[in-house]
Amino acid sequence: MKTRIYTKNDQGCLEKLGNILRHGGLVAIPTETVYGLGANGLDPEAMDKIYTAKGRPSDNPLILHVPNQDAVAPLVKEITSTAKKLMDAFWPGPLTITLPKSDLVPYRATGGLERVALRCPGHELCRALLEEAGVPIAAPSANISGRPSPTSAQGVLHDMDGRIDAILDDGPCQIGVESTVVEVGDDEVIILRPGGITDSMLEQVVSKVSYDSHMTSGQGVPKAPGMKYKHYAPDADMVTYVGNREQVAAAIQDGLSHLEGNIGLLISEEVKETLGTYLDQDRIKTLVYGSMDNPVSLAHNLYASLLTFNELGVDHILAQGVPSKGIGVAIMNRMEKSSGHHVITL
Ligand code: TXA
Ligand code: MG
Repeated sequence: MKTRIYTKNDQGCLEKLGNILRHGGLVAIPTETVYGLGANGLDPEAMDKIYTAKGRPSDNPLILHVPNQDAVAPLVKEITSTAKKLMDAFWPGPLTITLPKSDLVPYRATGGLERVALRCPGHELCRALLEEAGVPIAAPSANISGRPSPTSAQGVLHDMDGRIDAILDDGPCQIGVESTVVEVGDDEVIILRPGGITDSMLEQVVSKVSYDSHMTSGQGVPKAPGMKYKHYAPDADMVTYVGNREQVAAAIQDGLSHLEGNIGLLISEEVKETLGTYLDQDRIKTLVYGSMDNPVSLAHNLYASLLTFNELGVDHILAQGVPSKGIGVAIMNRMEKSSGHHVITL
């Protein structure tokens, strides 16, 4: 299969891509979080192709993407008042809401679960394509299962070239980590996967916000099946250090003195400054992924940096983590997995 790349400047591209999607093809779509691998969310055979292209475990459900709130009603049993409040507050945007599914939604979309995950992306061109397709679009992140999610069309092509019909390239994704996934109860939400919409943002809309106990205790079965799999893993082994800039700089120096081969450093501007000329060694590849004062920038560059380390072919990655608050919860959730839980608090 030849994978074609379209941009919004290609005449009639939304019509063409909408048509491919409606008729069972696979199209990678840009969103504000990461690129998604889209298929018709009402067509089990089309969704089967997603699992094959990604090598995804079949019990891991898909998020259905809709162009607006009106498209939700046919897909669920009921839109509760809490769900409505969340949609009003955060849609379009990086919040995925699970609700009891209607009979219209195939179990292929939900991995056999009774709830369906729904999201209206805060990306205008994406919503225009969803509108054009006229069906809900099932879209997991457009990576081979287990690898970092792509935040650019080049990243999608790297994993999916020849496996999918087309990519709609609309440049780099604004946020860079996936949406927050929540289960909605009565004036209550449970965060199943942390993301761009933080716990304190949710608290402004619903009275009770908690995390799935699997996330807080590391025990039991996660309510979002995807949370149990190995994820976001770069090719090299990775260690993440959490502490202040001096502590992290010292830990990195110590790590470097014990490790052989090429080392990738994923650090903030501040730690780079502290390490200074120490970094002037050929075997060290340093990627600055933002400033500690601006964790949003760190989220934005995280996956792209991990993919760059794959291209550079480093043997080890020493990374700087962040405090687990605000979007830092989502960043650390992903870094924990990228480093195979090798996170050291200094
Ligand atoms: O930002 C995003 O959410 C991106 C873009 C493309 O929209 N999509 C994405 O999809 O991250 P995916 O498939 O890589 O991750 C979806 C997560 C998985 O952890 C999955 O288990 C969980 O959401 N999920 C999906 N449907 C669910 C359901 N019905 N109940 C519980 N968890 C669900
Ligand atoms: Mg994913």
